[in-house]
Amino acid sequence: MFEVVSNDTLAPNLHRMVVRAPRIAAARKAGQFVIVRADKGEERIPLTIGDADPEIGTITLFVQAIGASTRRIVATPAGGTLRDVAGPLGQPTHIEKFGRVACIGGGVGTAVLYPLAKALAAAGNQVTTVIGGRSDRYIILKEELAALSTELLVTTEDGSMGRQGFVTHALADLIADSERTPSLVVAVGPVPMMRAVAELTRPHAIETLVSLNPVMIDGTGMCGGCRVVVDGESKFACVDGPEFDGHKVDFALLIDRLTTYREFEEKARCAADECRIAGEVANA
Ligand code: NAD
Ligand code: FES
Repeated sequence: MFEVVSNDTLAPNLHRMVVRAPRIAAARKAGQFVIVRADKGEERIPLTIGDADPEIGTITLFVQAIGASTRRIVATPAGGTLRDVAGPLGQPTHIEKFGRVACIGGGVGTAVLYPLAKALAAAGNQVTTVIGGRSDRYIILKEELAALSTELLVTTEDGSMGRQGFVTHALADLIADSERTPSLVVAVGPVPMMRAVAELTRPHAIETLVSLNPVMIDGTGMCGGCRVVVDGESKFACVDGPEFDGHKVDFALLIDRLTTYREFEEKARCAADECRIAGEVANA
């Protein structure tokens, strides 16, 4: 059992949960993840380790409550327990001094970006961070990222904070400005965003790292659920990734595989609450 030390809401349906897991906190490196089960028999959910404090033995997880199982995880209050937290899993991010690095976070992906930006800044890189969301309510970790970045740019689709538009608009400006052109771009967010970032950097031959989030089950390379194609070769995101060269990822296949279980997930969500509530209302 793993104690939840704190659980707060960062944005609609996005929780930051600090969990006591001393051995994981001591061993984890930036870019790695854990697999969490709220209770016995529950679905296994892969979650990036957003941060860790080895001194007090805690890890920080950012959990988007989108399905029945993630909703059960975020419903665990401070003082409650999660049944399983397995990890650290996945390859750590390759961190070195690249020089100028642009870290791009789209929506919830910003939470996955945070530990990477933190490690890149700690290695002496000049980090320009671009974070974007639908509106100001969806902009997360702004202060935390500003504290470690040389420059922080915000975009919102409705213009309620920062520049109006997508993160790619701000990145295009950075690339066009020879004083600020990055030598490495790290992008984490929705797949169409990561694909758009990769297409933007490709003509400039700027190395581009993306963090993929395919369906995962065991997290140890055995089930094949997280298969992605990179440079024409099958890879398992759980053991070979989750980070890959964005110029070599088959994004069309990834989108296809991510939507395979949509109907099933919808049914699970429905069975968990909405339909019951709708039924209760209808029967009232
Ligand atoms: P969202 O759809 O609100 O998009 C957030 C921002 O990303 C937008 O404001 C925009 O700046 C950028 N963006 C989105 N589509 C773009 C495009 N086509 N071109 C350029 N920029 C684009 O994001 P959300 O609802 O917070 O995120 C949900 C999605 O993110 C889910 O699909 C989830 O699976 C994915 N996600 C991915 C990771 C990962 O590790 N890659 C982690 C968490 C969530
Ligand atoms: Fe099963 Fe990666 S999650 S092989």
